[in-house]
Amino acid sequence: MSGNNPFTPVFGKVPPYMAGRQDVIGPITQALEEGSNSPDIATLLVGPRGSGKTALLSYLAVEAQGRGWVAANVTASRGMLDDVVQQCREGASHLLEEKDGSRLTGIQLGSVSLQWERGVQNPPNWRSLMNGITDELAKTDTGLLITVDEVDPRLEEMRHLVEVYQHFMRENRKVALVMAGLPHNVSLMVSKYTTTFLRRAARHTLGPVPDYEIAEAFRLTVLQGGREIEPDALAAATEAIQGFPFMFQLVGYRAWNASPGERGVSIDDVRAGIVMAKAELKSRVFDATLSTLANGDIAFLAAMLEDEGDTLQSDMARRLNKSSSHVSTYKRRLLDEGVIEEPRRGRLRFCLPGFREFLLEEGV
Ligand SMILES: Nc1ncnc2c1ncn2[C@@H]1O[C@H](COP(=O)(O)OP(=O)(O)OP(=O)(O)O)[C@@H](O)[C@H]1O
Ligand SMILES: [Mg+2]
Repeated sequence: MSGNNPFTPVFGKVPPYMAGRQDVIGPITQALEEGSNSPDIATLLVGPRGSGKTALLSYLAVEAQGRGWVAANVTASRGMLDDVVQQCREGASHLLEEKDGSRLTGIQLGSVSLQWERGVQNPPNWRSLMNGITDELAKTDTGLLITVDEVDPRLEEMRHLVEVYQHFMRENRKVALVMAGLPHNVSLMVSKYTTTFLRRAARHTLGPVPDYEIAEAFRLTVLQGGREIEPDALAAATEAIQGFPFMFQLVGYRAWNASPGERGVSIDDVRAGIVMAKAELKSRVFDATLSTLANGDIAFLAAMLEDEGDTLQSDMARRLNKSSSHVSTYKRRLLDEGVIEEPRRGRLRFCLPGFREFLLEEGV
């Protein structure tokens, strides 16, 4: 008897099996083991839509908690600093209660964070509030992991968090920071903020996951749900997924539902799943990406469509009838948006699988 569909085609959802990403998870979990002196204690994750940033942050938070750390997961937005405080309180309450019931109220988290929420003229000093919390945690040698999703360098609170974190580091507090965002936003943050640790922070790009890791995670996910997948079906799924985590979940979810009562997931199930997954990828990722692009970006991409393989940057000035500095500017923008990649200097290609075909169909 097979179980429920084990695939998770939902943004932000941690999948039962993470395909790949050990190169990111490994150093960070090691930093959590070692404490505050590891260079990986502050890490930036960069990736296009659907590459698995949010899922990875949640995964890392669970890893941290499993090692006795308190984790505060927030999204860059107004109120994020207060959110960090609230989550510390929730995450640490049982621990502090067990160790010493009176300490938590001693920090008076509740009243101070409420002031912040109400927008009192002089908001509580977030740094001293966090110092109080980390002092308390230090008594039991408990670390704190702060994760920030959807990095937005234009937010004052974002800047404040980064600046205060620099002090945590200097003071040797056991606080880890992992921030994730679209390439453009992360690059902007690093160049805009003067804090030096950001420049030195470990940085990982969440590119395509290698096929063998996709295939293994796919097979294990199917098994987890109580079914099996035939080798030809697995090969077809892997080929269609092209290393892209969101596509992994879409193909898996739809292929599973093609004949949920069967023991095996067949190649026909996978083929049907791929058709539906492609349509969903279009509406949920490609249309959204296209709508954020400026006319100049779209003209640049349209000029790239002439090539079936990689585009040479040196061809672009002529095709667009623009200067080479114009070409460099738009290349940079599209790299930062996570739409194209530059596998070798001067060679460009689309980085979201299927996006080129989508643009052709849209007739841009
Ligand atoms: N390593 C992975 N292996 C398999 N599936 C994954 C992996 N990482 C993420 N996923 C799945 O991929 C989908 C997209 O993940 P997630 O929402 O984390 O992407 P994201 O990079 O945060 O996207 P966005 O930029 O739109 O917020 C989700 O359905 C998630 O379950
Ligand atoms: Mg996300």
